[in-house]
Amino acid sequence: MEETRILLSESEIPQRWYNINPDLPAPLAPPIHPGTGQPLGPEDLAPIFPMALIEQEMSMEPWIDIPDEVLRIYKLWRPSPLFRAHRLEEHLGTPARIYYKNESFSPPGSHKPNTAVAQAYYNKEEGVKRICTETGAGQWGSALSFACCLFGLDAEVYMVKISYEQKPYRRVLMETWGANCYASPTDRTEAGRAILAEDPDSPGSLGIAISEAVEAAVKDDEAKYALGSVLNHVLMHQTVVGLELKEQLKIAEEEPDIIVGCVGGGSNFAGQCFPFVKDKLDGKDIRIIATEPTACPTLTRGIFHYDFGDTAQLTPLIKMFTLGHTFIPAPIHAGGLRYHGDAPQLCLLVSQGVIEAQALRQNDVFKAALTFARTEGSLPAPETAHAVKVGIDEALKCKETGEEKCIVIAYSGHGFFDLAAYEAYLSGEITDYELPQEDIDAATVDLPEVE
Ligand SMILES: Cc1ncc(COP(=O)(O)O)c(C=O)c1O
Repeated sequence: MEETRILLSESEIPQRWYNINPDLPAPLAPPIHPGTGQPLGPEDLAPIFPMALIEQEMSMEPWIDIPDEVLRIYKLWRPSPLFRAHRLEEHLGTPARIYYKNESFSPPGSHKPNTAVAQAYYNKEEGVKRICTETGAGQWGSALSFACCLFGLDAEVYMVKISYEQKPYRRVLMETWGANCYASPTDRTEAGRAILAEDPDSPGSLGIAISEAVEAAVKDDEAKYALGSVLNHVLMHQTVVGLELKEQLKIAEEEPDIIVGCVGGGSNFAGQCFPFVKDKLDGKDIRIIATEPTACPTLTRGIFHYDFGDTAQLTPLIKMFTLGHTFIPAPIHAGGLRYHGDAPQLCLLVSQGVIEAQALRQNDVFKAALTFARTEGSLPAPETAHAVKVGIDEALKCKETGEEKCIVIAYSGHGFFDLAAYEAYLSGEITDYELPQEDIDAATVDLPEVE
């Protein structure tokens, strides 16, 4: 009988993060200062990030050592297991071999602490007392609260209001780790007050919550800001996932034919697939598939253009696929996938055709999540279920063609705080949402011009 869980020992946790920058097939467009229109220098970012992270953001070194203190904390849940989905395969009747790299065993329940712990560490090292951040689904806010708790830092979390209401126990979890969590837009910041003045019932968005967290950090000398996705250093911290996966696939004597993950800002997906992108660029035949909701189809229908990372235009301009920084996505249940942009490194690879993207409807995604829960047992987060859905679709294609492909799903987190979403699905109350082209046109008409 082939193994179900492919495990590594603690001593096999990667000692270095992989930085894809030097291996990208084209240079990354530089982030631009919104005031000067010039490429950003390290000093421009110093008010919001510690210098060690700014250096990582711009680094062209292929490998960066993971500090011992970060490794010690990683040991609470790393290496994460790679599962072979035997029961799912049997249920589907597919000749494909399906694997899932399971990041749901971390204390907050997702991949997010892989970077939260690293970011809290570097902030602590540079004397920061408080970290401000935003959260969509609550997974990132929980991860940062957990990391700040372990390093004795204060955490201030701006949680998108619709998720705050959908998932009250995520807030309680953050508070249990000692954080303060607010439903964004709040009246604590100028950015939040401006939105509330226009629309007192605003459901919020990640773009708005980012504006609030950046503003709160800039106004406090003892605080810095942290982002849970999109930026180069965040994606790099997540590569521990893909580096472990490589070793686990060796043990299983497998080469991946398909790697699939969901994309909110791109961090779990990149963490899993970036160590394989180089193999693909060197000629290996691997399909790398990014999935997203039809309600927020950034990679499949967005415009590849410079845009702000937030609604209030406080962040630098970055070149990415974007639906426009004023875009407010429909309140679907995969809160972590409702962001108007995506990571520049990932967008570059999509624009070059190295990575493909698919948009999925909510009902199809929840149907796949139930199939997974009823065969493998684990309940995926609605975000993660996007990856599961395409994993199942590809396995069913193999059933038709008879191909014995190796499919690897990035299993980014569990859905234990998403039971209201599952309840809505089970009672037939989930609606599909296809973003109208007029909405995309309206939100992208005024994208900032960069020479
Ligand atoms: C479980 C889970 N998966 C995926 C995501 C999407 O984020 P990213 O694209 O940065 O991995 C989130 C975001 O909150 C999440 O909670």
